[in-house]
Amino acid sequence: MKNNPKICPSILAADFANLQRDVENVMNAGADMIHFDVMDNHYVPNLSIGPCVAQSLLNAGFKGDLDVHLMVKPVDDIAEEFAKIGARYITIHPESTDHIDRTISLIKSAGCLAGVALNPGTPVNVLDYILDKVDLVLVMSVNPGFGGQSFIPSSIIKIKAIREKLDAIGSTARLQVDGGINLDNIASVYTAGADTFVAGSAIFGAKDYKHVIAEMKAKLGS
Ligand code: DX5
Ligand code: ZN
Repeated sequence: MKNNPKICPSILAADFANLQRDVENVMNAGADMIHFDVMDNHYVPNLSIGPCVAQSLLNAGFKGDLDVHLMVKPVDDIAEEFAKIGARYITIHPESTDHIDRTISLIKSAGCLAGVALNPGTPVNVLDYILDKVDLVLVMSVNPGFGGQSFIPSSIIKIKAIREKLDAIGSTARLQVDGGINLDNIASVYTAGADTFVAGSAIFGAKDYKHVIAEMKAKLGS
């Protein structure tokens, strides 16, 4: 069963010189949580921001939920840092840890919700034996590392397959999609079974955040 839909603006497309302003603006415009992309120029070929920037946002009064997407290797220490800060979701890639079950346990025992992200080339069976332990599955609909890329159509097949697997075990985990999501494709991704939508350039690139988020929600019937 799908959860109530959530829209998660990716701060990778925000203005880092005005991050607090942009984050507050999208939350006031109807965003449900902030997608915080962490990149290390090792697991992915780009470098972004880390726990101290998240801490600064919290110190500056940010009260929303942080949906942290870790594209770093090794990942365990950084996951613990974000758990200490109080992230709501911490999502990791199986390829970034030698012991995925242990990394999931570490995130959950620190009081956070644990997510697993699948790259476009990562098969769905990586979820075997861990699906019942995760709170979120993230289907990457672009190769991770950069915002502003085009949605890879085969992601729809993967979303359908994972939705079936989640429903088969009665899981209430969220099924999130990340990469190239916009007003033209969000409805088809929702129909395939996703309930949690990351969008960077489609939201921060719009003139009116409130308008674009409302349009996205309208496409989801919510
Ligand atoms: C890519 C990131 C995404 C990205 C999405 O590695 O994980 O969250 O910022 O940006 P758009 O929506 O522009 O594809
Ligand atoms: Zn992301």
